[in-house]
Amino acid sequence: MLIAPSILSGDLLKIGKEIKKLESAGADWIHLDVMDGQFVRNISFGIPVVKSVRQCTDLPLDVHLMIKDPENYIEEFIKAGADIVTFHVESTECVEKNIKEIKKADKKAGIALKPNTNIEEILPFLRYVDIVLVMTVEPGFSGQRFLSYTLSKVVELKKIIDEKHLPVKIEVDGGINPQNVNIVKGAGAEIFVAGNSIFFLGNYKENIDALRNTNWSF
Ligand code: DX5
Ligand code: ZN
Repeated sequence: MLIAPSILSGDLLKIGKEIKKLESAGADWIHLDVMDGQFVRNISFGIPVVKSVRQCTDLPLDVHLMIKDPENYIEEFIKAGADIVTFHVESTECVEKNIKEIKKADKKAGIALKPNTNIEEILPFLRYVDIVLVMTVEPGFSGQRFLSYTLSKVVELKKIIDEKHLPVKIEVDGGINPQNVNIVKGAGAEIFVAGNSIFFLGNYKENIDALRNTNWSF
């Protein structure tokens, strides 16, 4: 199980300090939510922030592009230091080309789908990607409630990945907390993005440990 805190929920004035705290709290990856105000109704940060974060950590940088036509920026995000580049299947006409570009740069390629997008949309690309990111909230904002109907997609996807013996991992993003993490894990997810449940209350280590070791089972 990998825990990828979404830095967007942290204190962006002290981003370097936040990253150090997450490192000592046991974070596996740093998740960076890039939003363009077009693909989603929010604007966050972009290439310069990824570049700065790259300078202060060796943890893998998991860049989640919620932007229209990601092909225009993939190269720059890779240059900025992204280790994993994930873009949305709904955001582009060039899915295969984008995956190839990411893989050619020796980075991990992820494809994301919104809660209401069927997994059929990504199946043609499953053999080329490293990660499928199943959004468990509508992309755009942190702090939303986990949408439980997305679980069936995780289950279905996991079944297909196993049947085809593909080395693809399922990542989930949105509303993940100690109360629901086990059920999502049971469905087949291996990488867990979390914003609010890590940053909102208490201490980062306790919160990350709570996600890893929770006993909740519904
Ligand atoms: C939503 C983002 C998520 C989100 C996670 O568009 O992709 O990464 O910020 O935050 P929580 O865990 O609070 O839903
Ligand atoms: Zn995200």
